[in-house]
Amino acid sequence: MTKPFLAALAGERQQRPPTWLMRQAGRYLPEYRELRARAATFLDFCYTPKLAVEATLQPIRRFGFDAAILFCDILVLPDALGQSVSFETGEGPRLDPIGGREDFDKLRETPDWRRLAPVFEAMAGVKAALPAETALIGFCGAPWTVASYMIAGRGTPEQAPARLLAYRQPELFAALIDRLADASADYLSLQVEAGAEAVQVFDSWSGVLPGPEFERWCVAPLKRLVARLKARHAHIPVIAFPRGAATHLGRFAEVEGLAALGLDTATDPKVAATLLPPRLALQGNLDPLALIVGGGALDAAVDATLAAFAPRAHIFNLGHGILPETPIAHVERMLARLRGGP
Ligand code: CP3
Repeated sequence: MTKPFLAALAGERQQRPPTWLMRQAGRYLPEYRELRARAATFLDFCYTPKLAVEATLQPIRRFGFDAAILFCDILVLPDALGQSVSFETGEGPRLDPIGGREDFDKLRETPDWRRLAPVFEAMAGVKAALPAETALIGFCGAPWTVASYMIAGRGTPEQAPARLLAYRQPELFAALIDRLADASADYLSLQVEAGAEAVQVFDSWSGVLPGPEFERWCVAPLKRLVARLKARHAHIPVIAFPRGAATHLGRFAEVEGLAALGLDTATDPKVAATLLPPRLALQGNLDPLALIVGGGALDAAVDATLAAFAPRAHIFNLGHGILPETPIAHVERMLARLRGGP
């Protein structure tokens, strides 16, 4: 039997859509918080296979999701390219910002794969431990989103530092994006070789770009990334998650080799379906805030999501990552409703 998650990616509509949640491993789980305390830093945690395997499996054991996503972070790639990366508790990521050519020239041309060896080891460990019906997802950040952190050195509300550099020094910016596209494709290939059965590319900050910039810095690099990945792994399903890109969704119709598009909370699935060819499965897009609220509001949001995606192959998910303050009982309530319980 094909795993339900992979069947949806192959275009199969199912009575009950397979379900996983972005950021399903993490701080809303008490067992994650306990585990997290065993490593000094967040990167140490990601690079300790025993801990990463356990964090990945926690939400699978508790909720029986249809897919596991390897516990890691999109910013391990800049780390492997030689940029200094750290995570300050409560403050998010901090990187040595890339301000110009001189900083760019200090990066490695290709990632130091030895640095990421624990990630591939964790992937293999998860694969060996998963239930037979559960699929395993690998992931990376999209070049634009990763570049925005590399340039600003931190999260910023509108990615102004990266946008300014892209306008001021387009050749330098293009060189960074190309390097990230190729490194990301190779990183995903190695994840597939370690056991990933599908991959997701998180473009969390694509929504700030005007049309021509969106085409140049999000769509074109995704084409390059997918083509390079597919040259090594022709059949691996790829999910793109371009957050905030509702008005640009039609542009993904021409990205060869995509299996699915993840829709963010604000995107109307019915509109998305008119912009995208039927061969693309759709993933999403329950509001993470409805999951915090629970009760009748959650039930109504779940029902509306199911109804809006019903005509397509659908993977049920949130429209962005689950928030740390989400009550576990609400996740259980959502799953009971999805699984046809009372
Ligand atoms: O369960 C999973 O989904 C796997 C784990 C995962 C993490 N980060 C763990 C994490 C995944 C898929 C990511 C992706 C990621 N990381 C994205 C794209 C998805 C999105 O949310 O938009 C982005 C933009 C990042 C960068 C990042 N990592 C930020 C901005 C932060 C700080 C803000 C925050 O959410 O805390 C992180 C840290 C991070 N990555 C944590 C976790 C569980 C929290 C740190 C901790 O628990 O100590």
